[in-house]
Amino acid sequence: MIRIVFFNTWLLLSTIKQISAISYNQPKICSNASWNSTAITVADSTTIGQYPFATFVDTNNTIYVSTRTNNSIIVGQNGNFALPINISIENFYYSPSLFVTDAYDIYVDSGQTYYQVGNWSSNSTGSVPEMYECAGCWGLFVDIRNYLYCSVYVNHQVVSKSVNDSSNIWDIVAGTNISGNTSFALNYPRGIYVDVYLNLYVSDSKNNRIQKFSSGQSSGITLAGNGAANTIVLDGPASVVLDADGYLYIVDSNNHRIIGSDVNGFRCIAGCSAAAGTTPTNLWYPTTLSFDSYGNLVVTDQYNNRIQKFIIATNTCATPTTVTTTSNAMTTSLTLY
Ligand SMILES: *[C@@H]1O[C@H](CO)[C@@H](O)[C@H](O)[C@H]1NC(C)=O
Ligand SMILES: *[C@@H]1O[C@H](CO)[C@@H](O)[C@H](O)[C@H]1NC(C)=O
Ligand SMILES: *[C@@H]1O[C@H](CO)[C@@H](O)[C@H](O)[C@H]1NC(C)=O
Ligand SMILES: *[C@@H]1O[C@H](CO)[C@@H](O)[C@H](O)[C@H]1NC(C)=O
Ligand SMILES: *[C@@H]1O[C@H](CO)[C@@H](O)[C@H](O)[C@H]1NC(C)=O
Ligand SMILES: *[C@@H]1O[C@H](CO)[C@@H](O)[C@H](O)[C@H]1NC(C)=O
Ligand SMILES: *[C@@H]1O[C@H](CO)[C@@H](O)[C@H](O)[C@H]1NC(C)=O
Ligand SMILES: *[C@@H]1O[C@H](CO)[C@@H](O)[C@H](O)[C@H]1NC(C)=O
Ligand SMILES: *[C@@H]1O[C@H](CO)[C@@H](O)[C@H](O)[C@H]1NC(C)=O
Ligand SMILES: *[C@@H]1O[C@H](CO)[C@@H](O)[C@H](O)[C@H]1NC(C)=O
Repeated sequence: MIRIVFFNTWLLLSTIKQISAISYNQPKICSNASWNSTAITVADSTTIGQYPFATFVDTNNTIYVSTRTNNSIIVGQNGNFALPINISIENFYYSPSLFVTDAYDIYVDSGQTYYQVGNWSSNSTGSVPEMYECAGCWGLFVDIRNYLYCSVYVNHQVVSKSVNDSSNIWDIVAGTNISGNTSFALNYPRGIYVDVYLNLYVSDSKNNRIQKFSSGQSSGITLAGNGAANTIVLDGPASVVLDADGYLYIVDSNNHRIIGSDVNGFRCIAGCSAAAGTTPTNLWYPTTLSFDSYGNLVVTDQYNNRIQKFIIATNTCATPTTVTTTSNAMTTSLTLY
């Protein structure tokens, strides 16, 4: 049984200003949860075109996909992708990243030519109300203070700024602008994630590791991959997300698989043959990973031109566990049995 309770609270995070509701899912996953290794295709090339790069799933389980064709972000739910949002920006193409806020503002990298990050309301059919210049964001995230983070792949950095600030001044939050494998350096960072405590998680792709930069720290620690203790070998990690308990889920892109973690450490969840392929159990250079509200894993299966969903098969804990996440006007308590 799943019971969802909403109640008001401003108290828990009252020290942090400008909190927005969390727009993405962070489900409670039991340590012995399993996912069906045979995925369901929720969108294929007839809908999303060739080589989709970025997908975002909101708390309504609406799926947003930035496509490489027709200058559009494709939006859909329950297999119905009939609602393209056309982005009429010149040369919007090959957009590697996408983030949707609780206000349904869409932040998307405009692609190879201009490298701007724009905010398009889901209502908008082309106006560009906000735009920031950044040298190619391979990861985008908006934290609970409404700060926008951009993972600048070519500069080996993660930069940030308030979404209120329309100037083009970004603060460097991680990386030294020179590739390296020290605790201060990154090497072609891709997907990023910022938790409610403002800790930053980076898919440090060419270092084959996941770095965590605690809030305000320029020196990171390695949580997974090259240099971590008790870990697995990663090859080109492209995306990292957290569950309700802060365990990591990683797109191990060059191994064509999805890695999860729990109290027992790391394990493979999907694509576990680690070979590229086209069957429903395979992935082929996957790029992003999102939870839906049920704990299913929605994966951008780039070279297969499809969005795959791995259904959570078992997620039963011995005792009911209550998870609490806090947002601006509500606390969501999720009790699972
Ligand atoms: C896994 O998913 C496939 C495809 O939807 C389905 O045919 C199969 O029965 C599922 N297996 C389990 C154990 O649920
Ligand atoms: C792009 O537009 C063409 C013509 O309007 C259409 O046939 C095609 O399906 C569209 N492709 C995508 C991926 O939306
Ligand atoms: C999200 O879902 C709720 C409940 O179905 C609905 O009222 C709300 O309009 C949805 N929001 C968006 C932006 O689709
Ligand atoms: C998006 O563009 C397509 C093709 O140019 C057009 O048919 C469609 O009506 C547009 N959609 C919106 C929401 O403007
Ligand atoms: C994004 O665009 C929408 C629509 O124009 C606007 O209402 C909203 O304030 C913008 N958000 C930010 C953070 O600028
Ligand atoms: C959406 O568009 C309609 C009609 O233009 C407008 O009345 C409404 O305020 C818009 N909503 C948002 C959230 O921008
Ligand atoms: C951002 O802008 C909104 C609306 O103008 C304002 O209420 C809020 O205090 C601003 N936040 C920051 C952090 O400046
Ligand atoms: C980082 O390095 C690139 C290439 O050397 C340069 O163009 C860019 O201005 C640098 N950025 C910062 C913030 O130092
Ligand atoms: C970091 O780079 C140095 C120099 O290239 C190399 O000797 C060292 O093995 C690397 N360390 C790790 C953990 O990869
Ligand atoms: C998961 O572990 C709990 C004990 O923590 C056990 O009660 C439950 O049956 C397990 N579920 C599965 C599917 O193994």
